[in-house]
Amino acid sequence: MNTIQATDQHTMKAFGRIPLVEVQGKNCTCTDENGKTYIDFGSGIGCNVLGWCNDAWVDAVCNQVRSLQHACNYYYTQPQAELCEKLAKVTGFPRMFFGNSGAEANECAIKVARKYSSDKYGKERGTIVSLVNSFHGRTIATLAATGQDIFHQYFYPFPTGHVFAKANDLDDLKSKLDGTVCGIMLEVIQGEGGVCALDKEYVQAVRKLCDENDIILIIDEVQTGCGRTGTFLAQEHFGIKANVTTMAKAIGGGLPIGICLVDDKCADVITPGTHGSTFGGNPVVCAGAVAVLDTVTADGFLDSVKKKAAYLRAELSKIPEIESLSGIGMMIGITLKSKDAHDVMLAANDAGLLVLTAKEKLRLLPPLTITKDEIDAGLAILRKVLA
Ligand SMILES: Cc1ncc(COP(=O)(O)O)c(C=O)c1O
Repeated sequence: MNTIQATDQHTMKAFGRIPLVEVQGKNCTCTDENGKTYIDFGSGIGCNVLGWCNDAWVDAVCNQVRSLQHACNYYYTQPQAELCEKLAKVTGFPRMFFGNSGAEANECAIKVARKYSSDKYGKERGTIVSLVNSFHGRTIATLAATGQDIFHQYFYPFPTGHVFAKANDLDDLKSKLDGTVCGIMLEVIQGEGGVCALDKEYVQAVRKLCDENDIILIIDEVQTGCGRTGTFLAQEHFGIKANVTTMAKAIGGGLPIGICLVDDKCADVITPGTHGSTFGGNPVVCAGAVAVLDTVTADGFLDSVKKKAAYLRAELSKIPEIESLSGIGMMIGITLKSKDAHDVMLAANDAGLLVLTAKEKLRLLPPLTITKDEIDAGLAILRKVLA
């Protein structure tokens, strides 16, 4: 059997896969098994933040895997120490928990909010409010926290204690605060929901509401974090800081990671035995993440992301078939005038450009290391496909 046949026959049919076998890549160009090349405007849904096989990242990962590939969390490792120390400095969140995916990071965040509340107020205050149209993951609890009905099917019974408020509607949010709410969870830019940024005033008002009611504000930065929007965390654009922030995808540079970061208020909520993970904080993954962090926080890197994003957005805006753009920085949603986004994605793939969709939009999450030439090459293909 070939690669596609073997995979299709023996993996669960969870994904609507495109018949393209990626075999190798360098920065934002990848090659398939037939030798065809593609410009990457998707970065594996935001994970390959430094592109494919970035030298610093490869060296960090390979050097680490040669000396120590795994240690259980009863012991200490240098890469985990370096990552948490640097990440605490960059984000201002003093403590964190390492897991393996965005969903796991969000599970940890929900546990932190609930335990903070149960330690202080007892059992009856465990409700998490999240937003309509949100996406927080595929585990049972994070599906329950996801504000889209399509995800609330088949897997009954879902955990209780999750309610939804309309995005950008403060009155609706206030109406959910019945005294049982311990946490409010949101993406400042809803990614899977269609690259929809929340209003700044709304996010600031939510922050205030959380402060007034001792509610933990959880910001899910699984898709927006690690420089994607031109700041290290997207919440910086909104002028607020969460109590709990989750990261995944990009910070791993292409290896599985999920991080739940907490502020001083939540720093001591998780106590020995109340949470854990076998692979979380794995030294190889952490060594790669340190290389990502060092690159993204190097002088001038985020400025270059902002500049490249502004250029890409300006050029996209000139394409007649494009109605409007959404998102911030290098997280770009594209509303088309007449074409279907999914058809365009397939046509772009055929023409040698990898793009994504989110709801009815095209979605671009290019590697942050993308060069001007690669942006131009991708734009040329997109212009043709949209003509
Ligand atoms: C905002 C957000 N949260 C959580 C997740 C889930 O992450 P993972 O697939 O790593 O579990 C995603 C994945 O797309 C996401 O975009």
